[in-house]
Amino acid sequence: MSKLKVLYAASEAAPFIATGGLGEVAGSLAKALAEKYEDKIDIRIILPLYQGIGDRTGFEFVGKTSVPLAWRQQYCGVYKKVENKVTYYFIDNEYYFKRSECYGHFDDGERFAFFSKAVLFILPMLDFMPHIIHANDWQTSLIPIYLSTKYSSYEGYRDIKSIITIHNIEYQGVFDLKIAEDVFDLHGKEKGIVEYKGAINLLKGALETAHIISTVSQSYSKEIFDDYHARGLAEIIQKNSSKIRGILNGIDTDKYNPEKDAEIFENYNSKTIHKKYLNKKNLQSLTGLPQDKDIPLIGIISRLVKHKGFDLIINSMEEILKERVQFIILGKGDRGYERYFEYLQESYRDKIYVRIGFDSDFAKKIYAGADLFLMPSISEPCGIAQMISSRYGTIPIVRETGGLKDSIKDASLGEGNGFTFVDETPEALCDAVKRALRVYENKDDWKRLVETVMEVDFSWEKSAEKYYEMYRSLVNIGE
Ligand code: GLC
Repeated sequence: MSKLKVLYAASEAAPFIATGGLGEVAGSLAKALAEKYEDKIDIRIILPLYQGIGDRTGFEFVGKTSVPLAWRQQYCGVYKKVENKVTYYFIDNEYYFKRSECYGHFDDGERFAFFSKAVLFILPMLDFMPHIIHANDWQTSLIPIYLSTKYSSYEGYRDIKSIITIHNIEYQGVFDLKIAEDVFDLHGKEKGIVEYKGAINLLKGALETAHIISTVSQSYSKEIFDDYHARGLAEIIQKNSSKIRGILNGIDTDKYNPEKDAEIFENYNSKTIHKKYLNKKNLQSLTGLPQDKDIPLIGIISRLVKHKGFDLIINSMEEILKERVQFIILGKGDRGYERYFEYLQESYRDKIYVRIGFDSDFAKKIYAGADLFLMPSISEPCGIAQMISSRYGTIPIVRETGGLKDSIKDASLGEGNGFTFVDETPEALCDAVKRALRVYENKDDWKRLVETVMEVDFSWEKSAEKYYEMYRSLVNIGE
């Protein structure tokens, strides 16, 4: 039986580079599919070779070529490496990718146009002609667009199906219409595909041209039908409604495993949660907070941006701080939020510890050492942190939106695996936190909740099956 061949194109992929959820998902989904469907699917990942991918041990040089992008001819090297049974391809061009940050450059449009074009252009070099190219977010949106235009009549490319997954519709790849020809090589009718509301919108073009549009949770796949969540793209989503699917992300349960994790102070599982409290003690000591196992410790690990719910947090902080609680906050983002937390730390030294930045080692220690994990997002396509914290027995408090709604059910009245609220108000957030604190006061109830939550299955098992089915629905190669 021939295998289903999928090329997963993403602007980041773990374990090589992950600045956020997309990178985590790319690596762990492919790993799960490769394990579960070893004989049925050959899924490979392609990503840019950034400067940030420092360790290149075992990288094999596949070849080099010159990729045309409008009037440009750009060098393109291709490397490969097999990791977790998945073949990763890397697109090398130092001019575009030898920079300290993956994103945020003046020419991001051109950088990812080059990458998208290169993915298609180098296929004959790979000895791997995919049945499906799975693109993700705006950075690879040009792949379905080019496939349906420039490559639509090319032998070998004609039958390739494309999928675009929306990890977050807030980021759409919007550029001045003036660069359509010069940078993206889109003219006339082709330009019309990306044109939206007087600008270029690459994600819009992908939504129009891909065979399937998928998002990272069921709830989010419905929410994006209205503009509050779709950020102006609702009209396009509605128009393409028959193509839309929602599949909840999973997490890599090997990487996030309190029983084996070398980055936490003490390993534990749902049978030995007394050891979780050694993590708490050590975390309190590391952060200079009073060492007391009975004070509920709330962790926050997030980008400090509005849609993660920071206005709600700020407006309820003073109220929550009247309770016997401690907070550890890790993240970076908008300067205003950063300053606020720094100021709060000054005023509540014995209750709050703040670290501005990203630090995956410290994040693990928070996941393991905290009692509660606060994630009150205004919108959340899927969210990964609530699943990781659950795996470590740290009970999530979330707002019911997108993937948070699909993964966490309120436990105030018994069954459930966290604490949830609906209204976008500080009062609703405070109420959920207080409900959690009341349960925390009852040691037996709390222990039971922690045990239950640690047992919830957030692995890729079920979702990998759904991805496989989605791929199969596009390609008929016989079982
Ligand atoms: C984005 C979304 C997040 C999701 C992740 C992976 O970062 O904001 O909700 O979990 O992508 O799909």
